[in-house]
Amino acid sequence: MKITVVGAGNVGATCANVIAHKELANEVVLLDIKEGTAEGKSLDMWQTAPINMYDSKITGSTNDYSKTANSEVVVITSGLPRKPGMTRDDLIATNAGIVKSVTENIIKYSPNAIIIVVSNPLDVMTYCAFLASKAPKTRVMGMAGILDTARYKAFLATELNVSPKDIQAILMGGHGDTMVPLPRYTTVGGIPVTELVAKDKLDAIVDRTKKGGGELVNLMGTSAWYAPGAAAAQMVEAIVRDQKRVFPVCAWLEGEYGLKNIFLGVPVILGKNGIEKIIELQLTADEKKLLEDSAVAVKEVMDVLDKMEKVA
Ligand code: LAC
Repeated sequence: MKITVVGAGNVGATCANVIAHKELANEVVLLDIKEGTAEGKSLDMWQTAPINMYDSKITGSTNDYSKTANSEVVVITSGLPRKPGMTRDDLIATNAGIVKSVTENIIKYSPNAIIIVVSNPLDVMTYCAFLASKAPKTRVMGMAGILDTARYKAFLATELNVSPKDIQAILMGGHGDTMVPLPRYTTVGGIPVTELVAKDKLDAIVDRTKKGGGELVNLMGTSAWYAPGAAAAQMVEAIVRDQKRVFPVCAWLEGEYGLKNIFLGVPVILGKNGIEKIIELQLTADEKKLLEDSAVAVKEVMDVLDKMEKVA
């Protein structure tokens, strides 16, 4: 079993590290365009194997996609990260070209791979990989919901001084300020969160979650990596171990939630076949409106990509 992570920046390297640490595959390939970076980071990680007691072999490659051949799962993290003052959408022009060429190279050597996109703007870069791969919709998806839900859960765990393990939540929509955390589907050890947190505090946490990526960009001058890398690795784990986990994942919709021809975050069952089912929640009118607003925001950026494709 081989897993490839493309992009050996902070997110890609963290993701590869978690994948190896959890022994999700006997072979992990890290690939980057920058000479020596993937080789160096993978060698450094491999040298943690005797300390952390794992035997997933990690190797690096500078742009030699033949090394990624026959990967079962490929995580694409390539592209520029955000800088302060930028929205994720500002990255489209640069990152679309990168994601397109990475996907074409990946599919050439691993035609049956399941592709998980992490590059921003997330929903539209997933669409970009979907177009370039010509793969079925069950095998191309984006990682955002697990990360955004993790931020939401972490804020709640801090607020309530409880273990993050006991918080269950779902969040939908695009990976941007229009994302839709759903307090009605949030519980703490089975207790509805609305019984434990006052409305104004909960509203503030929902708002902080929506801007959670930006908060980190402002603190660090670049975008986050520990939680994004771990979140992508958790999707890989669900697939390679056929866990049938229920996660919010950026998926291609064909009528679900009344939306079609769009990539958007929805709850799915994730297993060895990729997205095995999209779960349709019975949203209230208010929740549905928030999801539709998020879809409009994502669609605007998808249209920018469609126009770029026509020019190319
Ligand atoms: C974030 C970036 C990875 O939300 O989109 O941190």
